[in-house]
Amino acid sequence: MTEIERIDQLREDLHLHNYNYYVLNTPVISDKEFDDLMRELQDLEAKHPERYDENSPSMRVGSDINKNFTQIAHKYPMLSLGNTYSQAEVTEFYERVCKSLNEDFEICCEMKFDGTSISLTYEHGKLVRAVTRGDGAKGDDVTDNVKTIRTIPLKLHGEGYPDSFEIRGEILMPWEVFEELNRERESREEPLFANPRNAASGTLKLQNSSQVAARKLDAYLYYMLGESLPCDGHYENLKEAEKWGFKISPITRKVHSLQEIFDFISYWDVERKNLPVATDGIVLKVNSLRQQKNLGYTAKSPRWAIAYKFQAEQALTKLLKVTYQVGRTGAITPVANLEPVQLSGTIVKRASLHNADIISSLDLHLGDSVYVEKGGEIIPKITGVEPSMRIAGSEKVTFITHCPECGSKLVRYEDEAAHYCTNETLCPPQIKGKIEHFISRRAMNIEGLGPETVDVFYQEGMIQNVADLYQLKAEDIARLERLGEKSAENILQGLERSKEVPFERVLFALGIRFVGETVAKKLCRAFPSIDLLSGASLEQLVQTDEIGIRIAQSILLYFSDEKNRCLVERLREAGLKMEADAEDRSGYTDLLAGSSIVISGVFQHHSRDEYKALIEKHGGKNVGSISKKTSFILAGDNMGPSKLEKAEKLGVRIVSEDEFLQMIGNE
Ligand code: IVH
Repeated sequence: MTEIERIDQLREDLHLHNYNYYVLNTPVISDKEFDDLMRELQDLEAKHPERYDENSPSMRVGSDINKNFTQIAHKYPMLSLGNTYSQAEVTEFYERVCKSLNEDFEICCEMKFDGTSISLTYEHGKLVRAVTRGDGAKGDDVTDNVKTIRTIPLKLHGEGYPDSFEIRGEILMPWEVFEELNRERESREEPLFANPRNAASGTLKLQNSSQVAARKLDAYLYYMLGESLPCDGHYENLKEAEKWGFKISPITRKVHSLQEIFDFISYWDVERKNLPVATDGIVLKVNSLRQQKNLGYTAKSPRWAIAYKFQAEQALTKLLKVTYQVGRTGAITPVANLEPVQLSGTIVKRASLHNADIISSLDLHLGDSVYVEKGGEIIPKITGVEPSMRIAGSEKVTFITHCPECGSKLVRYEDEAAHYCTNETLCPPQIKGKIEHFISRRAMNIEGLGPETVDVFYQEGMIQNVADLYQLKAEDIARLERLGEKSAENILQGLERSKEVPFERVLFALGIRFVGETVAKKLCRAFPSIDLLSGASLEQLVQTDEIGIRIAQSILLYFSDEKNRCLVERLREAGLKMEADAEDRSGYTDLLAGSSIVISGVFQHHSRDEYKALIEKHGGKNVGSISKKTSFILAGDNMGPSKLEKAEKLGVRIVSEDEFLQMIGNE
């Protein structure tokens, strides 16, 4: 490979790694490897100035992609809690406290929230900093992102708060939001978050705070620190904090005996399943700050508090066999078939094994006794094998080499954990999966049709792809067993109605890899017809908000395939919408075309999300951080001092809310 070719290769790779890291939050190489590649590129570019490219990934170093958050030292270290798992250990803790204090004391019982911890600093009633736990001594400054969390007050109300104090708590992604986010990621075929904790911490580290805002995080505050707190009691301080606007968990109880602690634990061990957020235990804290001080700390954790962790419900059962599912994209998912076992109120028969690496790291053998857990995850998983119960001579589970459905040889792309069957047009589950996706509620929403009917039509040779649906005849459907005339009528009506489905959903329904609902919407704004989209170049595609190189390449690949072009044509002929309606497009201008705009601060007239939408509507691009390329900053009140400083340094213009509204011709 020549040096020039290497430059191109490095640029392409680094674009992809940036995308994996910053957009998907799933880096596939270490920071060090990334830095090494970047350095190699910079050295080669220095040697070959004729290859200058203003879009090279190297151009972003030190500007908008210098995304490493600033590290801030914690004024008080962020310690963790000692964990206990049994009544006996809780009793030990209680007795130790009793003995050390040798006086009456109260214990505050709280939920242990399973999110990501945060330390907030308030000065003169204003939020000035939000820092992650980091290594306990120093953490990342995520102030801008935290400011998007609506339950965290930017300005305190009431009175009596100290001039300066810290308050710590947990940032959480409610179950509902988590499930919705994963559904969305699934439709874009992005890796799912395993649990709300990972989703919350991943979100907090996103670079674009408007994206953070969209993910609807929540927070509970549970620990106040400072020189002049209002009360001696931890519980009482939190009650004060509640009056200043903080969200404090209502499940906080002061108790005076071991029995009351056990009652609290056993009640919430069950009842927590009805809470909107994930919890993984109970925290017990000696209430008086004076007594806390007397008890002091070990190197790692306070002696005045302890966590009691709920038992992740686990069951031991037998692995009967491993089967393999083929998804609509050809991705192969191995599934453990288990001897049915009762776990957290349901009977578990199957567990996902995710991919080949997981199977080999578990060293699974058929007939093994395996531990299954549900934990914070929705799908049960195998957490381990009981070695003492292995049957001598049992067969080791090895990943299949060929598709279980069509027999094609499987491939594994570099940097991907999954194996794929690439026989897209002939492999039955891929064909059926694509049709099922097309008819699904969020896509074409074809009433009367479901996966079972699709299966029957496919078995009968009536459909091979989604365009065939529109050629179905009432009499052909009616003659099928279990269907009849009424169903035939419903299905044809459903298909007829689907011709009114807006273009953005048709685009989503096509099932182009990585084009989920949100991406389809964005694409539809930028390319309001299928002809504009199929004719777009890589450069044009990546200019679109939130469209990275991976999505762009997938779109190009889709339209480069004659079969897909043909399919689109047949759908167009059938009467499906292949362009956005005029009313969907109305109000769109290019007043902000080519502008990269940073949003900062708090606004009077519209929310941040609304401003983001307005920017896009007028052809601009909302970006997360300030760089030389930023056209201007749309600034509300309380724009962060670090942003202000950076804007001044780079000479980026600051535009007020009113000025901005004038620019786009709104009042
Ligand atoms: S108090 C010095 N209270 O658990 C004690 N922590 O291992 C400070 N956590 O990092 C923490 N719920 O992220 C406290 N009600 C609660 C909590 C809680 C969850 C987390 C927190 C901390 C970890 C301790």
